[in-house]
Amino acid sequence: MKKYITTPIYYINAKPHLGHAYTTIAADVLARYYRQKGDEVFFLTGTDEHGAKIAKAAKDADQEPKIFADQTSKLFENLSDTLNFSNDAFIRTTDPRHEKTVQEFLQKLHDKELIYEKEYTGLYCIGCEKFLTEKDLIDGKCPDHRTAPQQQSEKNWFFKLSQFESQIKKLIESDEIKVLPQTRKNEILSKIDQGLEDISISRAGVEWGIPVPWDVKQTIYVWVDALLNYYSAPKMFEKENVWPPDLHLVGRDIMWFHAVIWPSLLLAAEEKLPKEIFVQGYFTVDGQKMSKTVGNVIDPVELVDKFGADSVRYYVLRDFPFGEDGDVSLERLKERNNNDLAAGLGNVVQRVLSMVKRYEVKVENTLSDEAETNRINSLTEDLKFQEALIEVWKKIAAINKQIAEVEPWKLEKEGKREDLDQFLKKCYESVLQVADLVGPYLPDTSEKIKSQTKSLKLVPIFEKF
Ligand code: MSP
Repeated sequence: MKKYITTPIYYINAKPHLGHAYTTIAADVLARYYRQKGDEVFFLTGTDEHGAKIAKAAKDADQEPKIFADQTSKLFENLSDTLNFSNDAFIRTTDPRHEKTVQEFLQKLHDKELIYEKEYTGLYCIGCEKFLTEKDLIDGKCPDHRTAPQQQSEKNWFFKLSQFESQIKKLIESDEIKVLPQTRKNEILSKIDQGLEDISISRAGVEWGIPVPWDVKQTIYVWVDALLNYYSAPKMFEKENVWPPDLHLVGRDIMWFHAVIWPSLLLAAEEKLPKEIFVQGYFTVDGQKMSKTVGNVIDPVELVDKFGADSVRYYVLRDFPFGEDGDVSLERLKERNNNDLAAGLGNVVQRVLSMVKRYEVKVENTLSDEAETNRINSLTEDLKFQEALIEVWKKIAAINKQIAEVEPWKLEKEGKREDLDQFLKKCYESVLQVADLVGPYLPDTSEKIKSQTKSLKLVPIFEKF
């Protein structure tokens, strides 16, 4: 089976923070899991580089937008090395191949008379790159960015979104496009019930963008440009067979764009639709969404330097359910590293393998508990990463408990050699099973365990802090 999995493409107005890394870690776990299962995976991530927000960031940095974009985009691309992401492609919206596809796509909608010109006045939030209504504001400000939106009045090109209202509603209701978790699906449906209005898809006052092909004085609205990355990537990277997307991972601030605007654009162009949109929670710090604008960001590169990639990957997926918000703290990360990884997983591997070595047990790579593996794998497939990890760690605790109960060193003294061999063989198989199960989550650790099971050259896998 093919699996086309995407993350949002990230704004490059500032360097990546842990919230960005979070979504890509989750996507990476799924990509690795499906590859391990034998599926053909296309895992896409990248950067969103046009629009007013990036133009302003470049100006503030006193740089040309493209030069600025080249530099900051690299920081996102480098995260793949830092956090061991296995993305198959990294798309940049300033890539001329993407720009061309976007223009062709919009030209098609224009030819089909689904785009028209209209004078528009609205309140624009540059942070969100979207128009807000008075109802969205708190004390006159955007609640996410805590800045007052600007009044904008221009003649723009509009897409006939309203025309797709009942179709989109049916698709989401019937789960032809799955929106998960269920609470997010309900939110989307009730918002659709308030009615879809046509949306402006061009900007007259923004130079940093892709020109509207039939009106080059205007640029294409950055959100339309960005959503189309999912469409242009398979063409750019010669992977057209993966279309349509199987899973879009998104934060809840951008679920409307993905669940409503994106499929409407595809319907308009008579293209196939994405199958699932999974809306994850936010990282908060002291209860507030982690964001550059709020100034409470945690740098993933610094964390990895200190704790290692697998500790960070484990912490973010273990501490709270993927669909819900979670408050991050370095203290918790340290505890998880020391307790679950060093004292838990690391220790059990050392204990088992050192006994296998000491007693010269003839181990075999026999099949592990398949039913248990399937049960845990189906949690991963449902994006219940936290639950999957809890189950694996129950297994780790059970191995430890059995060792304490059986006391294999006594079996040796009592001359019960066969019992000893059998028991340690079972423990060894369990360790191999754990190495398999954690593979998608902790790829380095999994490899280290597997190589130590073969060589029996034992070195600690985790450090305590
Ligand atoms: N560029 C748009 C997305 C276009 S997709 C066609 C955008 N970029 S963003 O950089 O602001 O955020 C992208 C995603 O990063 C969010 O949807 C979410 O997945 C992730 N996160 C950003 N901040 C986050 C947290 N504080 N917590 C968890 N995830 C966060 O929106």
